[in-house]
Amino acid sequence: MTSTVVRLMQDLENIGRDPIRGGYSRPGFGEHELTMLEWFVAQAKARGLDVERDQNGITWAWWDLPAEQTAERTADQTSAREHAIATGSHLDSVPGGGAFDGPLGVASTLASLDQLQEREARGELRRRKPLVLAVFPEEEGSRFGVACLGSRLITGAITPERALSLTDREGNSFADAARATGLNPDLMGADRARLAGLDAFVELHVEQGKFLGNNPLGPAVAVASSILGHGRWRFSFFGQGNHAGTTLMVDRRDPMVAAAAFVLAVRETVAAQADARGTVGRLEPVPGGTNVVASRVDVWLDVRHPEDTVTAALVQSIYDRAVAAAGAEGCTMDMVEESMSGTVHFDDSLSRSLVTSLSATTSGVEMLPSGAGHDAGILAAHLPSAMIFTRNPSGISHAPEEHVEDADAQAGVNALTDALAALLSEEAAQ
Ligand code: GLV
Ligand code: MN
Ligand code: MN
Repeated sequence: MTSTVVRLMQDLENIGRDPIRGGYSRPGFGEHELTMLEWFVAQAKARGLDVERDQNGITWAWWDLPAEQTAERTADQTSAREHAIATGSHLDSVPGGGAFDGPLGVASTLASLDQLQEREARGELRRRKPLVLAVFPEEEGSRFGVACLGSRLITGAITPERALSLTDREGNSFADAARATGLNPDLMGADRARLAGLDAFVELHVEQGKFLGNNPLGPAVAVASSILGHGRWRFSFFGQGNHAGTTLMVDRRDPMVAAAAFVLAVRETVAAQADARGTVGRLEPVPGGTNVVASRVDVWLDVRHPEDTVTAALVQSIYDRAVAAAGAEGCTMDMVEESMSGTVHFDDSLSRSLVTSLSATTSGVEMLPSGAGHDAGILAAHLPSAMIFTRNPSGISHAPEEHVEDADAQAGVNALTDALAALLSEEAAQ
């Protein structure tokens, strides 16, 4: 029989397919992310949840406490939605991304909710806390350049002024894109009261590396220990735009040549540093014609390392190499830091309690560092946060080959249910 999580993922399989790149392209605040959000809202309402979209574009679907527990709260003057447990993920994707990065977490929250509701109906779960399912917008930052835009806004990790001035590749501002989806940009920004109402956040996510996949006979799930510090920088190389046929090679100031040297310098610099990762995954020549020497080339750099001081030193070395590469070609260059998120260590006691609750049904559950960024990493600075990873046998992510077997998707849901049941049953601290 097809499990609920697999059926939910099937609902999404034709939304945002990218016929050119392969996989899915579901940019934040775009048509496909919104279609998926409508699907989520309908699914949540069908399960009796009360759904709201906050001023930062985060969708919250509340499974409130049963009347009896709400009455107990009224007696001791605790409001109905305080001390909530939150769980969720995102629905947007990178260009040409896989099916599971984000949506698996969202579908798993719904499937897990079904299990929790059944447990409650059978009298096997006595909740002391409400549950809220959350969907965060523009987690990948593939449209406006800054990852985890929703969670950064609600936590104040980005100012609304800076967020609203971000633009996409077509020059649309985030302010206009948000407005087009019904948000009021004037109301965006940190929402400490909402965060203060949450006791914990748990995000289930497809594993994006090879750890679980390397051990097909081992557990299908793991718990995150940390998120690797990571940042994005835009390097612009400026030269002289010119004609491909009439400009002699000796007369050229070609920023593409400087950019090419830069890409090789990134590889060389980062490869020499243990545990570091450096990627150039996006390059845009201006104006971008086959028979045109470019006048400018923008190149985006992603660097990651467990120690933020090492990341900073690597970016400085790369910057020096970029200056040299530009100078050698008679070009100039400029660098802008678009974002930087320091290494995050998840709440030890929450993560260990997840390992304990998962170990009741699954042997060999381990803690795993994440090389990928997540909204849970941004929220972790404000409330106890943790993550569960579901096995991806391909070990590939941000590409169409990302994969999760049906049985493992169900194992992830079971793990999330057990983790949430334990958290929901805890007495709320006064
Ligand atoms: C998001 O998945 C990132 O790590 O960039
Ligand atoms: Mn993700
Ligand atoms: Mn991702």
